[in-house]
Amino acid sequence: MSSGGPSCTAAGSLAMYCFRDDIADENCYVLVPEGASEAWVFDPGFQTDAVLAWMRDLHLRTEIIALTHAHPDHCFGLPLLRHVHDPRIAYHSADRPLLDVDWSARGFPWNAAASYEATEDLADLSALTWSGGTVVIHPTPGHTPGSVSFAWDGWIFTGDTLFRRGVGRTDLPLGSWEELDRSVRTVLYRLPGNLTVYPGHGERTTIAEEQEKNPFIRMV
Ligand SMILES: [Fe+2]
Repeated sequence: MSSGGPSCTAAGSLAMYCFRDDIADENCYVLVPEGASEAWVFDPGFQTDAVLAWMRDLHLRTEIIALTHAHPDHCFGLPLLRHVHDPRIAYHSADRPLLDVDWSARGFPWNAAASYEATEDLADLSALTWSGGTVVIHPTPGHTPGSVSFAWDGWIFTGDTLFRRGVGRTDLPLGSWEELDRSVRTVLYRLPGNLTVYPGHGERTTIAEEQEKNPFIRMV
C-alpha cells in the first residue's frame, strides 16, 4: 500500500527515491546509481508492492536489502523482494529475535511476514559495499538493540533512532532509552551538522537542526 509515486532526490550520480506507506507512514528508500540496473532497498515495509511495481517498470533489480532495524513496518516486504530478486540481506543480528515476535498479540495491526536470515550481519561490518558504492554503518542501538544508521555522501538514514523533532520509542521488546539517548548524543550528534537526515518516518532534517531543536535530546 502506498500513497502514490516516490519522491526523488538527486545527489551527484545517484538518485534516492522515497516510498511512504499508508499504514505506518514508514519511509522505504531506494538508491539507484545513474544508469544502473541494480538498486539498494532500505527498509522495505508495507509499500513494497508499489516499490516492486515501480522497479519492474524501470527494469531495476534489488541487489541488496538493508534494514535499519527489524520491526515489521521496516521489513514486511523483505520476503516479497527476496522471492522476486533474490538479493543480499543485511541487518544486525541483535535484532534477529524481533523477527519472531508476535506483534499482533501486542495490539499491532501487523506481523512480520516471515523470518529471514541475514546474508550479511551488520554487527560484523563497518561498511557495506555494492556495485553503486559504499555506505558506512553506524551502530545506534536503543530503539532496538540492532538499530543502525547508514551514512552515504552527505546523507544518513537513521531509521527509528532519530526523527525530525523526535526520537524512536523504547517501550517495545528489547528497547532501551538509555542506549538510544547515548546513541543520539555520542554517535549521531557527533557527525557533521550539515549531514541530511532521512529518518524511518516523517520528513528529512539535518544533524544541526536536531542538535538545536529536538525536544527529546538536545545538545547542551
Ligand atoms: Fe521501529
